[in-house]
Amino acid sequence: MTFSRIVSTGMAFPRRVVTNHELAQTVDTSDEWIFTRTGIHERRVAGPDETTSDLAAEAGLMALKRAGMDPMDLEVLLVATITGDLPFPATACLTQTKMGAKRAVAFDISAACSGYIYGLSVADAYIRSGMYKNVLVIGSEILTKFLDWNDRGSCVLFGDGAGATLVTASETPGLKYVEIGSDGDFAELIYIPGGGSRVPTTHETVDAGLQYARLDGKEVYKLAVRYAQELTERALEKTGLTVNDIDLLVPHQANQRITDAVQERLGIAKEKVVTNIEYYGNTSGATIPVCLHEAVEQGRLKPGDKILLVAFGAGFTWGAAVLEW
Ligand code: UT7
Repeated sequence: MTFSRIVSTGMAFPRRVVTNHELAQTVDTSDEWIFTRTGIHERRVAGPDETTSDLAAEAGLMALKRAGMDPMDLEVLLVATITGDLPFPATACLTQTKMGAKRAVAFDISAACSGYIYGLSVADAYIRSGMYKNVLVIGSEILTKFLDWNDRGSCVLFGDGAGATLVTASETPGLKYVEIGSDGDFAELIYIPGGGSRVPTTHETVDAGLQYARLDGKEVYKLAVRYAQELTERALEKTGLTVNDIDLLVPHQANQRITDAVQERLGIAKEKVVTNIEYYGNTSGATIPVCLHEAVEQGRLKPGDKILLVAFGAGFTWGAAVLEW
């Protein structure tokens, strides 16, 4: 039997750090408000010439290098992003060229903060079906170029970055369980109203700021806590694991208070929960692969460890996965 397994990780961030104090100089906010309400202290912000595919290629090449794989041997390159370089073609194609992964099939996955878990499920299906033997799943975002820097309700929450994982065929799991889902009834809880076929870009739409992300933070907050609890409980039930069997919980980093609520409701020890929102804010599709990379770097993972991933985001989309490291 063939299973899929993550064999290496990578990450990339813009160099520029923007602290809450810096934001408070231009928006009516404070370090105290942002930190107590979200857990964020600072975020990375891309420069004018930095693109989502630049970060994706850097993180992707790091993951391939760590696995000792030549980019020319890569079969599938997936980029989970909602902040692509261009409306089309896919950011994955632009990333492919930058990586020199000439033989890979490359396409994007648009599932916002759940995008990486969606990508993992595609990789798993390809690998288990025998269609492909290796898939690079990257989450990469430059959200800061899609934010209204005068809207304190959204601009303080997000940051830029990329994470990558190489998933390959294996005789032992690997990925033990994955669930993904969507509900378009909630599409306008987090969205960008302009710039698409519904409201094409004009001078008027730009003046009205329709190119920027809008969110109903309170509603998302409530849904996120509810979904994360249901998803994690179902993942344990379906895999026959108990919360004590889980060595690491990697939740999407939207708000430290959401993470704390999920941790408490699940009854998992705080030390087993990965959090990095303090340094990066919410990096949407990049968050979970970055957390995995940092957990590897910090020596928090050893072979056989059970990892539970959970995410939710614009769409509304959600996903959960259980991995054996
Ligand atoms: O991954 C999916 C995307 N992520 C999300 O959608 C985020 C999910 N939601 C959240 O994390 C939280 O709902 C927020 C952090 C967005 C907001 O936290 P909250 O505790 O729900 O605050 P609130 O929206 O109820 O706002 C409380 C007050 C309001 O003032 P009034 O009406 O009480 O006078 C806001 O105007 O805080 C005000 N406020 C701010 N004050 C200072 C909102 N944003 C800010 C700010 N600085 N940045």
